[in-house]
Amino acid sequence: MTLMNSAELRQKFLDFFEKNGHAVIPSASLIPKDSTVLFTTAGMQPLIPFLLGEKHPEGKRLVNIQKCFRSNDIDEVGDDTHNTFFQMLGNWSLGDYWKKESIGWSFEFLTKELEIPLERLAVSCFIGDENAPKDEESAEIWASLGVKKERIAFLPKEDNWWGPVGESGPCGPDTEIFYWKATSIPVPEKYDPADKNWVEIWNNVFLQYVKTADGKYVLAEQKNVDTGMGFERTLAILNGFENIYETDLFVSVMQLFPGETDERKKRIIADHSRACVFLISDGVIPSNKDQGYVLRRLLRRMMVHMRGIEHDILLPIKKSIEIYKGVYVLDEEKIVAVVKEEAEKFEKTLAGGLKAIEKIDVINGKEAFLLYETYGFPLEVLEEMREVANREQFFEELKKHQHPFS
Ligand code: SER
Repeated sequence: MTLMNSAELRQKFLDFFEKNGHAVIPSASLIPKDSTVLFTTAGMQPLIPFLLGEKHPEGKRLVNIQKCFRSNDIDEVGDDTHNTFFQMLGNWSLGDYWKKESIGWSFEFLTKELEIPLERLAVSCFIGDENAPKDEESAEIWASLGVKKERIAFLPKEDNWWGPVGESGPCGPDTEIFYWKATSIPVPEKYDPADKNWVEIWNNVFLQYVKTADGKYVLAEQKNVDTGMGFERTLAILNGFENIYETDLFVSVMQLFPGETDERKKRIIADHSRACVFLISDGVIPSNKDQGYVLRRLLRRMMVHMRGIEHDILLPIKKSIEIYKGVYVLDEEKIVAVVKEEAEKFEKTLAGGLKAIEKIDVINGKEAFLLYETYGFPLEVLEEMREVANREQFFEELKKHQHPFS
């Protein structure tokens, strides 16, 4: 495998697809123009109008590295592979090439450009259901490239179908590529989707359908390809790292904390500081609703985890800015000012809040809301420390009240 740092992987990916006729387009904002969803969660999302037939000014083959944010992965952060903010390497065909080219290029990029050994790869394809047939075509293409039958699994919609974003829009069967990450044991002959050593690295979606508002799957007028490869995961794999936090995207933030610091805490701080930098950079300000609440939650969670380790929340924030300064335009002054203001607000009440919950084991949703109102503990941060019963009550109260922290 080719050892490379983040800058090299970025360049290699863009160059490869550019060489194959794709126009390089910039990353869109983390905050979608279409307000039906809070964040940009995948590279295809900002392209939806073009996937639905609008003409893209750069043509029919596009490539980029898209900033993404997935708030539903917050609880997974701290394991080896999940992030809230992450970057997705993606290439698209807008009514142009189809499965053969798409799978062929993914295969070539992984095995030739990145020199990932074929014996460490496995794939999955859609098994078929009442909405769409079994994807034999993708499986045959994989087989023709040398992927053994035992390494090709057919799986149902939960695994091998992507989209739409939100309730309706482009979607379709996908074929996913997995990498065997364990180093200590021989790679098994057969791909077992349940074995966590197989990590998903790339997802090629064949956007052949549109899900309508009334839940039907209709054939799309234009057949598109949408692929997404996890930048952080791929970088870790190429360097033989067990986890993404050892890569150059995180290591200098991780090193801010003493060696004996709890690993999960360090990872949460490293993930969240980077996410906060990019959310603020794209215009989010801490508040009690929507994107602002998510940002508040990340910043306050960081502060709770940093207690007793490192007092200054600006340290990991500034380090994260430093890592990305050459890649994205980041207004350091503005980002620091927003974080500082929020940190000062929470700092005033944090110690009191921790004291207030000291002797309580279970809190109900209403009390949780009072703790948020009085001490500024976001529900999810509180839940990490105490059991919260009837959590829906928290949101009912939140809706009812005009919030002092907003
Ligand atoms: N949209 C697909 C995903 O998010 C592929 O880019 O995985």
